[in-house]
Amino acid sequence: MCGIVGAVSTRNIVPVLVEGLKRLEYRGYDSCGIAVHQAGALRRARSTSRVAELEAQVQCDDIEAGTGIAHTRWATHGAPAVHNAHPHFSHGAGAAAASAPGRIALVHNGIIENHDELRAELQARGYRFDSQTDSEVIAHLVDHLYDGDLLTAVQQATTRLRGAYAIAAFCRDEPHRVVGARAGSPLVLGLGAQWGGEANFIASDAMALAGVTDQIVYLEEGDVVDLQLGKYWISTRSPDGTHRAVQREARTVHAHSGAAELGPYRHYMQKEIFEQPRAIADTLEGVEGISPELFGDAAYRIFKDVDSVLILACGTSYYAGLTAKHWLEGIARIPTSVEVASEYRYRDSVPNPRTLVVTITQSGETADTLSALKHARALGMTHSLTVCNVATSAMVRECKLAYITHAGVEIGVASTKAFTTQLAALFMLALALAQVRGHLSDAKEAEHLKALRHLPAALQAVLALEPQVIAWSEVFARKENALFLGRGVHYPVALEGALKLKEISYIHAEAYPAGELKHGPLALVTSEMPVVTVAPNDALLEKLKSNLQEVRARGGELFVFADADSRIEPGPGVHVIRMPEHYGALSPILHVVPLQLLAYHTACARGTDVDKPRNLAKSVTVE
Ligand code: M6R
Repeated sequence: MCGIVGAVSTRNIVPVLVEGLKRLEYRGYDSCGIAVHQAGALRRARSTSRVAELEAQVQCDDIEAGTGIAHTRWATHGAPAVHNAHPHFSHGAGAAAASAPGRIALVHNGIIENHDELRAELQARGYRFDSQTDSEVIAHLVDHLYDGDLLTAVQQATTRLRGAYAIAAFCRDEPHRVVGARAGSPLVLGLGAQWGGEANFIASDAMALAGVTDQIVYLEEGDVVDLQLGKYWISTRSPDGTHRAVQREARTVHAHSGAAELGPYRHYMQKEIFEQPRAIADTLEGVEGISPELFGDAAYRIFKDVDSVLILACGTSYYAGLTAKHWLEGIARIPTSVEVASEYRYRDSVPNPRTLVVTITQSGETADTLSALKHARALGMTHSLTVCNVATSAMVRECKLAYITHAGVEIGVASTKAFTTQLAALFMLALALAQVRGHLSDAKEAEHLKALRHLPAALQAVLALEPQVIAWSEVFARKENALFLGRGVHYPVALEGALKLKEISYIHAEAYPAGELKHGPLALVTSEMPVVTVAPNDALLEKLKSNLQEVRARGGELFVFADADSRIEPGPGVHVIRMPEHYGALSPILHVVPLQLLAYHTACARGTDVDKPRNLAKSVTVE
């Protein structure tokens, strides 16, 4: 998704801006650009190709300066095209505007909801628009409000914007100044002590500044920052629209570079699938026993007070939530509902102040999930906990309690190791709530802990199935549709398997609880429809077998991941891969892995861009 990097320095900052964009590349983008203040004018380079191409363009055009901003764009308003790429320039209003040199340069993450209204107003004032973006209106608005002080112009402009934004801007008439503002989209400030003390940086993510500075200030909602050489000043907007100065603490953040080594793997997704034993071990490290304190100092008091759980998440994280519902209700005996975050805030729900609101998010920056959390809080549900992979993210800062998964940086857009580590953390949450509610005996706790600790070894055994999965992927690569079936706690696993396949191979895939087949989707089953089934040896196995018969009777071809003792035999139209061991309640963590491998190898066979699938971004920071 969109990324921002900017800087003010006495040295040439273009290499820092390019490097920052490279660090944000893994999030997905379709164009990129850089603008600098050079020789008293605004200069820029923009590209719909990769950052490497932009870098070549910048070198070729001798673009260098001490003040500049840069951006990776993931198109929302206006097609991916050079004229829509950021930075945008304002040209000044009036008849001379067409030929006027640029005055304000601006980059924007987020979506401006009232852009049509602002565009019409600015056009009426004589502003010419060069793009179809919502972002360009901000550049012209700042220009219109500019009266010799960029900070005041940005502060005034933000009072006119509705929607979500993180922006960074500089002005032709103020060479050593960049002004940033945020509301609804993340923005951080990097202090340039390691750069000789004069430089200051701005970025949408601390990771963009890794290697440049580890002194990070996280801006909060409504903040506007004024970056100058060797100093900065933060103000925040009050409800009445005025701005007052605020202090925000600088933290030492050791952001990991996104540019991790691929090692022997073809893609980051494959690497991340194979990192799962390690990621789970790291996520469980230090867990000697189950206790609420694993989730924070206040957890015992909060867990004692709550009578239900509301899970809010998107995509893969939502499927982790659907899985966790089975554990929370089955083990902790606590009523649990799971909501797609983007839907939750727009429906009229019945709030319960004694609910524990649990957000699940790999990035901790997903706009829909953050907004849903704030909505729940506004409804009076103040007990919040997040399961998140990024300790420095907005979500961790927003929630009272947290469990940080230690999956490591996930670069592939398709989430893999984040999912399985989320499941491990959520299982522990179910155990901790069970303990506080008197549903976890010492013997049961010991049994569950033993199973958790055995997960890395069990995952290794599942990963060894890769050659068998590759053989299946050659069949799937020739199909355009697939059905995934699961029952009980494995239905979310089927959903996740279908999401993985469609996301990276572009094959249309749907998942159903197997019992639903005869209520509609069975009509789709022909010899052309591969049906993937997760078949652990649990209480629902015999029912699942009947569902499989229904598929075979219609000529459907079955691809079954079965536990060794499930007595599902291969035969005509029935392909079986045996899972190494039956894993009880934790079985979803193992059963999802062959589905990840199937999606990965099918995508490879179809030659898609596995790590950066079309139209998708790693971190969805707009609504
Ligand atoms: O960072 P989050 O976990 O909040 O992201 C949520 C979804 O956008 C994410 O899981 C998405 O569905 C993945 N691309 C799926 O592979």
